[in-house]
Amino acid sequence: MEALKLDVDQVYNFVSKEDIHSLKIAAEDANKALHEKTRAGKEFLGWVDLPTSISEEYLSDIEKLASQFHAEVECVVVIGIGGSYLGAKAVAEALSDTFAHLKKNNENPTILFAGQNIGQDYLGELLELLNTKSYGIVVISKSGTTTEPAIAFRLLKEHLENKVGKEKAKNLIVAVTDKEKGALRALADQKAYKSFAIPDDVGGRYSVLTPVGLVPLAIGGFDIRSLIKGAVYMQELCGLDASFTENPAAVYAVTRYSLYKKGKKIEILANYENKLHYFAEWWKQLFGESEGKEGIGIYPSSVDFTSDLHSMGQYIQEGERSIFETVISVQQSKYNVSVPPDKDNLDKLNYLAGKKIDYVNKMAELGTMLAHVDGGVPNIRIEIPAINAYYLGQLIYFFEKACGISGYLLGINPFNQPGVEAYKKNMFALLEKPGFEKETKKIKDRL
Ligand code: PA5
Repeated sequence: MEALKLDVDQVYNFVSKEDIHSLKIAAEDANKALHEKTRAGKEFLGWVDLPTSISEEYLSDIEKLASQFHAEVECVVVIGIGGSYLGAKAVAEALSDTFAHLKKNNENPTILFAGQNIGQDYLGELLELLNTKSYGIVVISKSGTTTEPAIAFRLLKEHLENKVGKEKAKNLIVAVTDKEKGALRALADQKAYKSFAIPDDVGGRYSVLTPVGLVPLAIGGFDIRSLIKGAVYMQELCGLDASFTENPAAVYAVTRYSLYKKGKKIEILANYENKLHYFAEWWKQLFGESEGKEGIGIYPSSVDFTSDLHSMGQYIQEGERSIFETVISVQQSKYNVSVPPDKDNLDKLNYLAGKKIDYVNKMAELGTMLAHVDGGVPNIRIEIPAINAYYLGQLIYFFEKACGISGYLLGINPFNQPGVEAYKKNMFALLEKPGFEKETKKIKDRL
């Protein structure tokens, strides 16, 4: 199998090859520090060797659970937020038929998500649907105390118990959480739910290849073995002994860091296959939560092209020149669809007759890249042969490794997220959570 290809040729009008190569040693040192666990956040580096550490026994256990769900339910509601949601969502969306929910040939349970927001109507609509479906629940929370999934789980647990009875519901609920800490662990143990432990040394945004991602994906019928194989390939390619030029994650990290130092403070991840929309959401959490701290960090954003060329295209072409673009380019589509000839040619499209739709898409991609580079937007290109589980596995590990190296180049701890607590403190104060009395008084005085 091939590896993804990284092309940074279209940044050299903005940063020189010398700029990039001057960071070779720093990047190799950062990579080494990730393997040898010598820098900030060293207690959260379990993801570095994770792909090669996944055992056959472990996979079989997950697949056994998946078969049980396949036999028993039409839907599985996966409850989680942030790192306990985005990895599974990203892979499931990328690998699913866009219209699967309207096609009748889907033999795997449909994966639905909850707990990733606190929208009342979202939950109301979901409960209404679940009245008419047989379903199971996978509740995922590393801390076991996150408010959004906890609320969704309380609601759905009650709904399922009322629908099928407590005894049956118990066998349709799976918990993925810490091996000993947190409210969800206590609940899972008390109710004897089937459970999977999230390793202590893997943080939420790096956890897609733990049961956090693997359990929902296996239940949804996705090929988790190929996903892991792709990640293993990339783990080995970007390993401890990889030299700078042979390590695509290091080259990507250094290139974006060099652009940042030249004032390119916003990175836009672009796709031309809109199935990758949620992959970009996963990527934004990975880089945003890892790098945005201590007043620094590249702001990660994303676009779906060509759709967003008709909205954000104007800004990217001519707005403030503080952006660069990273394009995930997919070489092969699955289907073969061509533009049909038309005798009347009233739409003037006969010049494209017989051409593949993907050829038109590729010309849009090439034309956009040249226009954006001419307009002052450096372009990094990551090419994968196709969207499948294997190449998604490569991409996941590639970005994780690049993010670790990138964080160390910036001089921050890429494995903590102190900033996400601020909103929670205010929300708990406003909700008058016991233990937050002082904060409640303070916030109410302020309003
Ligand atoms: O990356 C992170 O740490 C966060 O986004 C968490 O994944 C998110 O807050 C969910 O946390 P938990 O799994 O503890 O419910």
